[in-house]
Amino acid sequence: MTLRRRSRRVSQSNAWPGVIEAYRSYLPVSATTPIISLLEGNTPLIYSRQLSQAIGPRAQVYLKYEGMNPTGSFKDRGMTLAISKAVEAKSVAVLCASTGNTSAAASAYAARAGLRSIVLIPSGNIALGKLSQALIHGAKVAPVEANFDACLALAKSLVNNHPITLVNSINPYRIEGQKTCAFEICDALGQAPDYHFTPVGNAGNITAQWKGYKEYRQHRKIDRLPVMLGFQAEGAAPIVHGAVVKNPKTIATAIRIGNPASWQGALTATQESEGAIQAVSDAQILEAYRLLANHDGVFAEPASAASVAGLLQLARTGYFTSRKKRQTTVVCILTGHGLKDPGCAIDSITMPKPLPPSLSAVSKAVGLG
Ligand code: F0G
Repeated sequence: MTLRRRSRRVSQSNAWPGVIEAYRSYLPVSATTPIISLLEGNTPLIYSRQLSQAIGPRAQVYLKYEGMNPTGSFKDRGMTLAISKAVEAKSVAVLCASTGNTSAAASAYAARAGLRSIVLIPSGNIALGKLSQALIHGAKVAPVEANFDACLALAKSLVNNHPITLVNSINPYRIEGQKTCAFEICDALGQAPDYHFTPVGNAGNITAQWKGYKEYRQHRKIDRLPVMLGFQAEGAAPIVHGAVVKNPKTIATAIRIGNPASWQGALTATQESEGAIQAVSDAQILEAYRLLANHDGVFAEPASAASVAGLLQLARTGYFTSRKKRQTTVVCILTGHGLKDPGCAIDSITMPKPLPPSLSAVSKAVGLG
């Protein structure tokens, strides 16, 4: 009797195929490009009642929860394309400088593709979750005693001297992949939002999102463009001040960047859309971080909360009431998952003390006594 070998893959005909397959015609891939995917994208667009109420009676605020990507941040959208193109170009290794999330995504997608990955990180200034991702995926991790900007400069020199692909967002495929976030928002809403709020670090993401909206309008998928509003942390706000910050400082380590590579892209996005890049303080970031967790049930990492901190800041100054009469749709990008940085969560609450295993002690401690 001959046994027919069963296919090892379960059919997933209706399942989400990942951003390259979902938006293939908008991306620089051919029929022969090997697709390296973890089925990234298709992240939830969650309505926030509390934020909608805070903004005004005709506002609808949505949270684009990019922390739900496979490695826990928006970086996966760009990395699927950057790594696929690196494999197509027969590269054997990839390299990035990172405040954490890029390194997590690069090392995961490289592992899947069978490529070596090397990551340069600012020593002592990346969240533990991100560091553990790079290590468990087998990256060669170099913690450098310098900030992100210096790590990026080193990474650029290394790729000039070695046959390695740089997968920071100066790699154009990263931007191409990340623009799919804008596509998904428009597909979900049936139109572009009126306002798009996003955290800004190296400024690749705001550049990519604006590109995405513009392409969707060119293809007549939408007929208007959003106002783009980007937020840097007060101690790391070079674009806001129009000058490089030598020693950037913020609790939001993901956006602790003093000389963004896509500076011009961020300016173009905000100038063309009549938006702005503004600063929010660490206290505002933490306030938004807690609000999201306490009232929306959404756990986002501190840098992500900069978009919501920015929304609340603009709302307080009357930005929305003075503008539109009709319904206003706002999208805040939550770039990374809260579990990336458990230290921040633990530091921003009071850690409960251990209790004896008695009914009275436990009841009393949890407010049921
Ligand atoms: N939010 C998170 C969680 C990030 O990790 C980053 C950037 C940003 C926002 C800002 O995005 O750089 O495109 O403006 N993280 C990079 C990294 C720098 O190395 O992981 P951007």
